[in-house]
Amino acid sequence: MENSHAPHPTPLENFAAPEPDGSRGGLWSTTTARHGGELTVGGVGVRTLASTYGTPLFVIDEEDMRRRAQAWKQAMEEAFAPLSGAQVYYAGKAFLSAGVATWMSEEGLCLDTCSLGELVTALAAGVEGNKIGLHGNNKSCEEIRLALRNDLAHIVVDSLAELALVETLAKEEQRQANIVLRVTTGVHAGGHEYISTAHEDQKFGLSLASGMAMRAAEEVLASPHLHLVGLHSHIGSQILNLDAFTQAAGVVMDLRAQIATHLGYVVEEVDLGGGYAVRYTVLDDIPPAPIEYARALASAVQSHGKVSGLPAPRISIEPGRSIAAPSTLTLYTVGTIKAVPLEEGSRRYVAVDGGMSDNIRPALYQADYTVTLANREPSHDVVRSRIVGKHCESGDIVVRDVALSANLGPGDLLAVPVTGAYGASMASNYNMAARPAVVAVNGGKSRLLIRRESVEDLLSRDVDAEGYELNS
Ligand code: LLP
Repeated sequence: MENSHAPHPTPLENFAAPEPDGSRGGLWSTTTARHGGELTVGGVGVRTLASTYGTPLFVIDEEDMRRRAQAWKQAMEEAFAPLSGAQVYYAGKAFLSAGVATWMSEEGLCLDTCSLGELVTALAAGVEGNKIGLHGNNKSCEEIRLALRNDLAHIVVDSLAELALVETLAKEEQRQANIVLRVTTGVHAGGHEYISTAHEDQKFGLSLASGMAMRAAEEVLASPHLHLVGLHSHIGSQILNLDAFTQAAGVVMDLRAQIATHLGYVVEEVDLGGGYAVRYTVLDDIPPAPIEYARALASAVQSHGKVSGLPAPRISIEPGRSIAAPSTLTLYTVGTIKAVPLEEGSRRYVAVDGGMSDNIRPALYQADYTVTLANREPSHDVVRSRIVGKHCESGDIVVRDVALSANLGPGDLLAVPVTGAYGASMASNYNMAARPAVVAVNGGKSRLLIRRESVEDLLSRDVDAEGYELNS
């Protein structure tokens, strides 16, 4: 379940930030530690990071992210070894840069992209086309052509209209497109309505119930420009429930059997999407480990496969959040602090230099996060606090309710863990905010992955402001 369903207001003692040794919940990336009071990640102190790169700042623990990618690869290989093997596509929508694409390739993962920007980033990082998939429910001709020209591992087709478009473009480009059909399994799961994707009344996929998926398979098989590679299901995101995944796997396996029976074709690959949960606060349930998800998927695939008597398919998955989220923290600098009286007691509002422009998740999904004082040792005394951003909305909340160190003042650094997925990737320029930098830390060194936006960047798209000289 999404942590948004946690009782509110949350008892302060349960909501205290866990310490970076993981002793109270393991929310911090593996190399996060406290040295002489200061938080360090990848052997680099947060004060150095803040003074070198400024704040707000996304700090990715490279070793941690690579380990999570490896954990998924090993888990899938182990669980599917008795079947026909498995492939892991990292879902770039969680966070993508050329550096991250390179790490994922080096760890033996493929890349799942869903836009021109993501596809171009993967290609710019040197990832080979046959290691990239392309998603999207409304792909442009430009996206499809680029996919065709780079011989992508697959294009995941979302509708009959799109299938016709891919066929036309494949014919024009004189290529054969590798097609994966995304089907709506009818399994309703996911942390929040906006991130549930497999019930009937939503925009994604080819409906099974109406026979659309079978019709699409028939059309792919009838075209010399299309090659039916696989069937795909993605039921939603932040899903803790193994049953939802196994149910969806079963539905796709049954469709594969029906295609074999009715169309005489054995689909070689089944892609079971992403959606594996992470823990954002100590109140959240501990999600299954990759090996537990992988074993559950393998047993569903195996039992449905046995019934059909067909050779086992190759299985793909597309984890994003579970690789990216826990590897990253966001560093903010504290600005204005004010005490706001409540019916009982008061709440300390701590405003930081970012907010909903670098993490929209609290505003969009009522997602909860936690926080700690990062540049020095937190005091034992705590104050009921809310961390807010600097945007012109009262919903601009970073951490809703937290018992935070009493010894806090302007200029202090705060660290919010588990911000690596759908933070930087959903960042906006709201209130003309410049989007933060993203740095990687590893082995005592830091490296810029994405530079901070400047006011010049912001003005550069405003054609009427051309030539304006900043007088700073
Ligand atoms: N595959 C497909 C087809 C997807 O649509 C997604 C996510 C994934 C894989 C990766 O899912 P993950 O393993 O990261 O859960 N902005 C929302 C999440 C939206 C997810 C969209 N699709 C959030 O911040 O919670």
